Amino acid sequence: MMTHHDAVSVIRTKRDGHVLSGAQIDWVIDAYTRGHVADEQMSALAMAILLRGMNRDEISRWTAAMIASGERMDFSGLRRPTVDKHSTGGVGDKITLPLAPLVAACGAAVPQLSGRGLGHTGGTLDKMEAIPGWRAALSTGELLSQLDSVGATICAAGAGLAPADKKLYALRDVTGTVESIALIASSIMSKKIAEGTSALVLDVKCGSGAFMKDAEDARELARTMVDLGNDAGVRTVALLTDMDTPLGLTAGNALEVRESVEVLAGGGPPDVVELTLELAREMLSAVGMSDIDPADVLADGRAMDVWRRMIEAQGGDPGAELPVAQDTEVVVAPRSGVLSELDAMAVGLAAWRLGAGRQRQGEPVQAGAGVEWHASVGDRVERGQKIFTLHTDTPERIPAALAALDGGWEIGESGERRPLVMARVG
Ligand code: URA
Repeated sequence: MMTHHDAVSVIRTKRDGHVLSGAQIDWVIDAYTRGHVADEQMSALAMAILLRGMNRDEISRWTAAMIASGERMDFSGLRRPTVDKHSTGGVGDKITLPLAPLVAACGAAVPQLSGRGLGHTGGTLDKMEAIPGWRAALSTGELLSQLDSVGATICAAGAGLAPADKKLYALRDVTGTVESIALIASSIMSKKIAEGTSALVLDVKCGSGAFMKDAEDARELARTMVDLGNDAGVRTVALLTDMDTPLGLTAGNALEVRESVEVLAGGGPPDVVELTLELAREMLSAVGMSDIDPADVLADGRAMDVWRRMIEAQGGDPGAELPVAQDTEVVVAPRSGVLSELDAMAVGLAAWRLGAGRQRQGEPVQAGAGVEWHASVGDRVERGQKIFTLHTDTPERIPAALAALDGGWEIGESGERRPLVMARVG
């Protein structure tokens, strides 16, 4: 028999800075999933956790309780080893799109269960849905057969996988409780452990456009997740990567699909190519396939072939024209110099306000909306040259997007981006 618990006493325990007992954690996650703990009570508890933190044992128990809220998947019947990647969320972070087909083309199986946008960060499913006909939902049977035939999927986690996280993720998005190491680590790892991947590579973002602004916090988040994964039998490593400035040259759903296809075709922005290859090498090494060089597989078009098959298997048309927004607005350089700053948060907020993300839960996103920047940090720019193109179907949002960009970029005498990969935690 479970001892009696109630939401208010659990909230008070954490509010006052005490450690939650295992029984309290099990009870509150289960009761919240069943609807016996109200959203306002879970919001208060999430805020108490954000402010007070949780220790390793609490995080581990919280993660286990979220896994136990739903079903677990099993990929052990597949002929190829499974490996997955997860990013903690960034701006212009479209890496999953070229990465999943690339690693599959190298011979591993990549399940890649993905999510939607959270706050100012884009979501992989929202990006993929810009492709005409493509559908995010796959049954477990479809997922397994696609992994067997194509080798890669990008799809929505089914409703049965960590349902506690589904509710809590949506609640955190609207209550200012995303930026907690304990809550991010347990959210990501509950889904990945329940998914049953044999290996996992984490891309932990660090900087202005990330949920973790400083390197110490990002490192602690990485360490927490790597330990949770390895303790659960999932070979897990993390790269800490720069998110002070956004990735590539676009943020927005269809814009990012276009850029990903450029990478698969052998072009694309150098930072997107570099991070795709770094993460691919980590994924291959985690499943004992480090003898394969993903750069060759990208260059000779094999990754593009898998991309096309992956899209077609989910009802999409890889050759279709991508949606384009109705209106554009151009921002030009007021003087000549070097782009010395381009702030990821400013760009992410602008893209979000233009319609690439949601203002309210469950709203549709605009496929064509977003921001294109025509120079990266360190590039020489001339007075009058285009710096940004804003895209939207709702031009009344342009002033708010311009306000977000204001102060978020600078033309100076010199500038250099910090290294893309800042550290490895394994
Ligand atoms: N991604 C997740 O899945 N969960 C979080 O809490 C943050 C990013």
